[in-house]
Order: sequence, then C-alpha cells, then structure tokens
Amino acid sequence: MRLSLRFVLPLMLVLAGIAYSISPLVDQMTLRWFVRDLDIRSSLIANTIQEPLQEQLAAGKKAKIGEFFTRITQDERLYAVGYCASPQVKAVASRSLPEEIGCADLGRWELPGDHLLASAQGPLHVAVKAMTSEAAPAGKLVLIHDMSFVTRRSEETKRYVFYLFMGLAVVVSLITVIIAQLSWRGWMAGMRSLLRGEGLLRQPAAGSQPALPEFKPIARDLQLLIRELEAETRARDESQITWTPEALRAILHGELRGEDVIVVSNREPYIHQRRGDHIDVQRPASGLVTALEPIMRACSGTWIAHGSGSADREVVDKHDRIAVPPETPAYKIRRVWLTPEEEAGYYYGFSNEGLWPLCHIAHVRPIFRSGDWAQYVAVNRKFAKAVVSESKTKDPIVLVQDYHFALLPKMIREELPEATVITFWHIPWPNPESFAICPWGEEVIAGMLGSSILGFHTQFHCNNFVDTVDRLLEARVDRESFNVSYGGKLTAVRRYPISIAWPPEHEMVQKEVPTCRADIRQKEGLPAEHKCGIGVDRLDYTKGIVERFHAIERLLELNPEWVGRFTFIQIAAPTRSGIDEYQHHEAQVRAMATRINGRFERRGPPPIVLKVEHHEPSEVYEYFRAADFCFVSSLHDGMNLVAKEFVAARDDERGVLILSQFTGAARELPEALIVNPYDADQCAAALHMALTMPDTEQRDRMRLMRGLVAEFNVFRWAGRMLLDAAAMRRRNRLVGSGGARTA
Ligand code: G6P
Repeated sequence: MRLSLRFVLPLMLVLAGIAYSISPLVDQMTLRWFVRDLDIRSSLIANTIQEPLQEQLAAGKKAKIGEFFTRITQDERLYAVGYCASPQVKAVASRSLPEEIGCADLGRWELPGDHLLASAQGPLHVAVKAMTSEAAPAGKLVLIHDMSFVTRRSEETKRYVFYLFMGLAVVVSLITVIIAQLSWRGWMAGMRSLLRGEGLLRQPAAGSQPALPEFKPIARDLQLLIRELEAETRARDESQITWTPEALRAILHGELRGEDVIVVSNREPYIHQRRGDHIDVQRPASGLVTALEPIMRACSGTWIAHGSGSADREVVDKHDRIAVPPETPAYKIRRVWLTPEEEAGYYYGFSNEGLWPLCHIAHVRPIFRSGDWAQYVAVNRKFAKAVVSESKTKDPIVLVQDYHFALLPKMIREELPEATVITFWHIPWPNPESFAICPWGEEVIAGMLGSSILGFHTQFHCNNFVDTVDRLLEARVDRESFNVSYGGKLTAVRRYPISIAWPPEHEMVQKEVPTCRADIRQKEGLPAEHKCGIGVDRLDYTKGIVERFHAIERLLELNPEWVGRFTFIQIAAPTRSGIDEYQHHEAQVRAMATRINGRFERRGPPPIVLKVEHHEPSEVYEYFRAADFCFVSSLHDGMNLVAKEFVAARDDERGVLILSQFTGAARELPEALIVNPYDADQCAAALHMALTMPDTEQRDRMRLMRGLVAEFNVFRWAGRMLLDAAAMRRRNRLVGSGGARTA
C-alpha cells in the first residue's frame, strides 16, 4: 500500500503539470479550428442569402432587408449581418451590427488573418464575402459570429484534457503497481523456493504457483551451489547430527526429495493371527523388524514381505496391501503369498538350513538341496515382480533385507536399471573357504552384486565378502575404496552397524524400575531381594543358550553361595520349528534347564526359569528393567540387538551386560563384560562379577554404553545408508548426463 502511494502521487502530480502546461496549446488549437469552421459557415450563409437579398434589393425595400437580416441573426451563433453596396454607402444591416464595422474599411477584414474583433459584447468573428451570383448586385456581405462559445468550449476541452490525464495517471499507476506486486511476489516465491532448493526446475504441483521461466537458469545454478554447500557442511558436521526420526525424515525429504522407498524382507512387521473368532496382531521377534519399523514410520514407504499370518489374507485390500501400524497408520505392507512348497524350499530349506548355518560359525552343518535352490530362485523372482509393481517411479530406492533375498538385487536391476538397490545382510559373512562349500555360491554373490550398496554390520564381514568375491568371481575389487566392479556395474561394500530406536518409546520405560523389579519377582514366585539375570532370544542354536546354561551351572558349582539366591530367566521365542535342527535344539535347552534346576532346586527357587513363548516388546522391557544383569552369549551374531535393547531399557543406569565376543555388538560396547561363550569358567566368573558389581561401577559402564547407543542409533544406521544412496544417485545423474553410469 505504501509502495502504491509513493508511486501514484508523484505520477499524478507530473501528469497534472503536463496537463496544465499544454493548456495554451489547447486554446490556440481550438481557436484555429473554430475560426476555420466559422469561415466555412459564413461562406455557406453568404451563398444561401444571396438570392433572397437580390429580390429585396430589386424591390428596393431596404427596410425589409434589415428585418430579413435581423431574422437570420435569430441563430444563436450569427451575431449580425450587413450589406455594403459600395464603400461609400452606409451598410444595410441587422440591428446588432457593431459600430466598428463600416463599409469604408471592409478591406482589412479581407486580408489573411483570424478576423477577430474584440468588442464590448465579447469576441466576434468577422467575415466579408463578395456577392458572387451573376443575378445579384455587386457589393459585399458582412457576417459576424459570436465567439464567446469558443471560450466556453475551450474551457470545457481543457477540463476534459485534465481529467483525461488524471484518469490516465491512475490507470498507468495501477497497472504499474499490480505488475510490480506480482513480480515482487514471484521473485520472493522464487527466492524462497531456491533457498529451499525446490520448485523452480520441476513442474509445479497442482494449485501451486507456476515456475517462472526467467528463473530457471539462475535457479539451476543456485540449487547446485546450495546442494554442494549442504553436502560439504554435512560431511563436516555429520558427527554433530542428533539422529532422530525427524532428522531421518528431513534427510529423506531433503536429500531424496520424498522419493519412492521400498523395503523388502521375508518377515513382516505385523502379523495377523486368527484366534477363534477374533484376529490378533503380533509383532515378530526379529532384530531386523525392530530396526526397520521406526524407519518405515519415518518415511511412509511400502514394505513388501511374506504374508505368513493365519489371518493375513482376511485383512488386506484387493492389492494385498494393508496400512500399519494398526493404531496410527504411517506406511503400508504389501503381502506376498507363498505356497507350502515355496515356503519349504525357499524359507526353511535354502535360507535356513543352507545359508543360515553357512554364514554363522555355530558348528551346525549346512544342508543344500537342489529343490530348495529352485524354490529360492522362484521366490526371489516373485518378490522382484512385487517390487516392480509397487514402485511408482522407474528409479525407486529399494532396501533389500537379508539372506532370504541374495538374488533379488540382480533381478531388480534387470527390471529397473535405474533403481538404487541397498542390500543389507543382517547376519555374518563367512571366510571364502567356508562359503565355497555352497554349490550355488557364484550365483549368490553375483545376485548380491546387483546392489548399488551392500551393507554388513562389521568391517570384518565386509572383508570376508570382498575376499569371497575375489576368490569366486571374475570381478575387480578395489580394496582402497571397497568397491566391487562386476559386469560393468559398481557395488559399494560398506559397514553400517545396525542399532535400535533411541530414545525408546515412552510406554516401554514408563513403569519405574523398582516397580518392575517387584512385579517380575512376584510374577515368577521369587523373593523380593532375589538376584535375577535375564536372557531374551529366539530359540536358535546360534544364540548360545546351551552354553549360557552351562555357565550358570558352573557359577553355582564355583560360587555355591548363589544357590537359592539367584535365578536366571530365559525368554525364548519359538522359531523355525519346522526344521529338525531347531526341534533338537529346543529339546536340548528344555532338558538342560530341567537337569540344572533338578540339581540345585532343593535349596530354594530354581536357578533357571525357561519361558518358551512369544513376548511383546513391552513385556520384554519390563524383564530388562527388573534384572540385575543381561547375558548375551551368541556363538556368532551379526550384531545382536538384545544387548542394545537392554542398555536402552536401563534409564536408571544400573544393570550389567555380559556380552559374547562373537557378536557385532561387542565391538561397539567394550564396557560390557566381554566373554567367550565356549569358556564356561570365564562366563561363570563374569556372572559372579555381575552379581557383585558395585553400583558406581554399574553406573559408569552403563552410562558409557547408553551414550554410544544413543548416538549410534537405528536412525543413524538408516540415515547413513540413505545419505550414501543419495550421493550415489547424484553422482550417477551427473555421470549419466555426460555418458557412462556406474553403480
Ligand atoms: C534374524 C534374521 C532375520 C529374521 C530373524 C527372525 O534376525 O537376520 O532376517 O527375520 O532372524 O527369524 P525368522 O526366521 O523368524 O524370520
């Protein structure tokens, strides 16, 4: 508004000045026009009255001529008319002929000029016309017009010209102000979107302001500059980022601009089970699911997984999709259905009897059957089709999870060559000699090399993988950059240690630690001051549960004072029970607990409480908070998230973590009591130490571990992978525009 006034007022003043200064010109012009008009008019009147005048003259009626002239001058403009027969006689005229006009000096009115007479009556126009008709007598007619109307007209014209200029000023000002406002807004919007790094180069969203074409070149340059600056700042400041779901979401939106994110895993994050006439929603005991669930909540993508629940088919829509989490839907699951044969060959067979023991050094012999392999290939192909049908763009970001899908990256790349495939291998990778026993080893690693990025938990597993590629395939391995070039494509092999969400959900830790301690002891029938240890695992032979029980037995042998004063609660989620090895393992664990309890039970509560059943995460957290220590004794484990969950659960900074040296977690949590699970005596000593550790030492160790898990949380795990993927996509676009594509 202020801008408009500042602009409109001066403009109006200038135009008013112009209008004022041109008014004499207007006067002159109008005068000239009217004089010319009156000359013509006078000639016309003179011609018209010649004939009646002749008749009157012939009749010699001079008085009648005067009346005739007076009648003519009734016309509002014609002021007077006279007739001079010769210069010597007096004019015969209407009554109003001014005295200044006489027949003797008519000559001066015939000279060129404007023939104006300023009389007492006002301005007059004098025209002298000689009689031209042959029949008419010689002589001259004098025609005098009143010019006062000219002054009136001239005033009116000047007024109109003034109004016209003022109107013009207003219109010009308004148009100028509107254009200025629009341009200003356009510039501001342009600058804003430039600073946000969006908008100008892409098609505008429906309903939004269209991109201004004149901004495009400058926008492109600015965007590039801003991105480079951001990337540099990020590289420098990454250690400063506090990794939260919001930070992850910001990275997804900022770096990947809300691109299509698809997760593929065998296990689904929510399983619908029919129980009589109602349907239960279960969250599976899987570290992978625990890690990915918060990420999917943050980025609202699609999670493709095997629909394994008994009521899974009943709840999906016609595209086999369902929005989850059930309470607050944030992303969707696309369920893939498998026949019993497919499940037997792909899941139980090649994945869990072949690859699982092959990759874990747990001294269980892998089993390879060609029928299982065929199903594994077919099911990977089925999931590849699901990825293609779920991707909204030709270059989605696909996060492929785990050993169930070794062939999927290559299959996706064949269908969607521009996709960015990030594969994460959640289990260890063995050394080349161990891996070489797999009959389809080459196909497995060639399939994995379809990935743009291939992640493992530890550098040791990255090294093993790269060594295996070097040994089995015709591929170029760059050990400095850890890139593998195979079939003209690059795969970056990187270490991304997985973690858990931090801070843990409020509901998980809202019950006070003393209340958890009291409630759990009461629930398990244990005295209030009883010492308790906790173990939480799937009932899997890699978890070292048998070795753990051995260690407890050894503790009670070596330190009998704990008999009757200490109980170890083992929560064991049933898993893969269709496999013989798992059935034997469960039987062995159950028998061992019974034997040890039988040996020491006489003197009070049992040393081992074995709970073979599924527990929801909130229940598990209650046990963590109630325990004096947590024992993780895996024989081999990619990471082991139970260790990190125990640390997260202990906001009271108490509790001791005993951790197997064969877990990925041991590399990140050296403040835990690190043990070799095969060494029962060492483990027993660690158990005794945990039971007797002073509070201050517990606090010091726990504080350090909590600091690490808080910083290296699951949002960082995902964020790092996605940032690397974004950088790779940027590089590929750059290289792609100039020719060859790399990864
Ligand atoms: C491990 C694997 C996961 C798997 C989980 C549970 O953590 O890395 O991929 O989901 O075990 O096993 P299950 O066979 O029940 O999915």
